[in-house]
This record gives sequence, structure tokens and C-alpha cells, in this order.
Amino acid sequence: MKTAVCTCDEDDTRARRLAELLDASFLPTEKHRFPDGESGVRVLAPVPADVIVLADLARPDEKFLPLAFLLDVLRELGARRITLVAPYLPYLRQDKRFREGEAVTSCTFAKLLSPFAERLVTIDPHLHRYRRLEDVYALQGDVLSAAPLAGDWIREHVPNGIIVGPDMESEQWVKQAAVRAGVEYVILEKKRRGDRDVSVRLPGGLGDTHQVPVLVDDIISSGHTMAETIGELRRRGFPPPVCIGVHAVFADGAEQLLEATGAGRVLTTNTIAHPRADIDILPLLAAALC
Ligand code: R5P
Repeated sequence: MKTAVCTCDEDDTRARRLAELLDASFLPTEKHRFPDGESGVRVLAPVPADVIVLADLARPDEKFLPLAFLLDVLRELGARRITLVAPYLPYLRQDKRFREGEAVTSCTFAKLLSPFAERLVTIDPHLHRYRRLEDVYALQGDVLSAAPLAGDWIREHVPNGIIVGPDMESEQWVKQAAVRAGVEYVILEKKRRGDRDVSVRLPGGLGDTHQVPVLVDDIISSGHTMAETIGELRRRGFPPPVCIGVHAVFADGAEQLLEATGAGRVLTTNTIAHPRADIDILPLLAAALC
């Protein structure tokens, strides 16, 4: 039997497209939510030995259990090699105990997910204190990057841009995007005091205010990192910045915040399905999976 692509996402469009790109079959599933809030999953066709499971793990707390049920039943029904494709891998930012008594959730989440698959493929995971996925996940980890795709987008749409990374962690994405786009980049200093309390500092000599700033970061969650950066750039006289986030997490109110602060175009990739997802990562995934 051919490799199959399967998902328990509400919207299976991306999984169906991935199956087409890979010339694999699509393995349909059925999800159910019981009146008491528990969930059920059913696989609706025979299960081959090789299965790729595409999972949208934004807002992971509600999605983790249905995914675990699916991965477990696939194994029971004959899957021998399961590749979990989580284009957005959550729970990586808590990579140390920042305050006494805190759970290191990246570690716990990895322990929960690892036994269900042989391989994990993801895009631009927030690896900061961990160098590699395998430092925390007990399976084969493959890390892809959407930064070159962001660079291609910038080259085409903002050739006079300057790429701005809001903090030191962003340099890994910003540098690659800048090389690909053929433009300069600058990295700011960020201080985070709370979930929605962030400040950034622009370097003194940041030059030509005719250049269009293009903010590039991995995650847009509350939007405060980008909003503070936009505010600082606007005060220095720069035009409305273009904002590119790899992962469109967008907590409630984030998009409105960016608009109110003076963002230009805001766009993301489709690691998480979202109306602002103008950069398609499915071909990148397909190339890594074939
Ligand atoms: C943190 O280091 C990440 O790279 C992002 O900058 C951060 O997650 C963005 O979060 P928010 O939108 O809530 O400021």
C-alpha cells in the first residue's frame, strides 16, 4: 500500500494537498466531540505501514489529545513508521525554569509526544536554549526553515527593504531571509517583562528612513513584540513596516494591535492555516518528505 497522509485537523485541505504533492493517498478520519467534552477519532480506511500525520498544533492544549488518539490508533491498525509533521511546534519557548517551581513545559510536551512517532518534521521551531530538536524530543527530528521563502517574498515585493529582527533569537531567520532577498538586516535588543509587556531598543545609527522596514520573526502571538518594534521605527521616521511572521499564532486582539500601531502589510506562512498566510510551505514539506 502507498504511503498515506492523514490528519485530525478541522480543515483537512492542507493534508489533502500534501498527499497530492507526494503522490500519496489521503487517509480519511472522523472526529467526534461527546457531550461531556471528551473526543473520539476514527480512521475510515485501511492503514498502510507508512503514514504521515499532518497536525496543526496552534492552541495545542485542545488539540493534543485527539492527535494522541489518532497516532495511537494508526499504530494499532498497522502503521509501522509514523512521521508526524507539525509545521508549527508549540511549547518550545519555555526551555528553562525561568522562575522557581515552574514546569519546563517544552520538556514535558516532548515527553508526551515522542512515543507516538518515529520522525518529527517541523518548520522554524523556537530553538533557543536547545540546539537541536533531539535535545528535547526522543525521535528523529527534521527542522526546515521558511526563512528563504520569506526572503524570496521580500525580494519580489520590497526590494528596497531593510529586514529587522526584534531580538537575538530572530537572527537565525532574519539572516537567511536577508541573504536570499539581497538586502541588509538589523537585530534589535528586546526585553520581555510579561506576556504582553515587551520593549525593544533600536541601534543608534539605524540609517536611511527611505528604506521600508520588514520585520521578520518566528511567531506572532500577542503581537506586542512586533507592535513595540513598529512603534520605535515609526518614531524614528520610517514608513509603515511590513510584518512577516512564520507562525500565525495570533492571540486574541493581536491583529488589531498591529493595525493600530501602524503596521503596513502583515503576512505569514501557512504553517498554521490563516487568511494572512501568503507564503506556502507545503512544497517545502513535500520536498523533505519524498
Ligand atoms: C520570542 O522570542 C519569539 O521569537 C517571538 O518574538 C515571540 O514569541 C512573539 O510573541 P508576542 O507576539 O507575544 O510578542
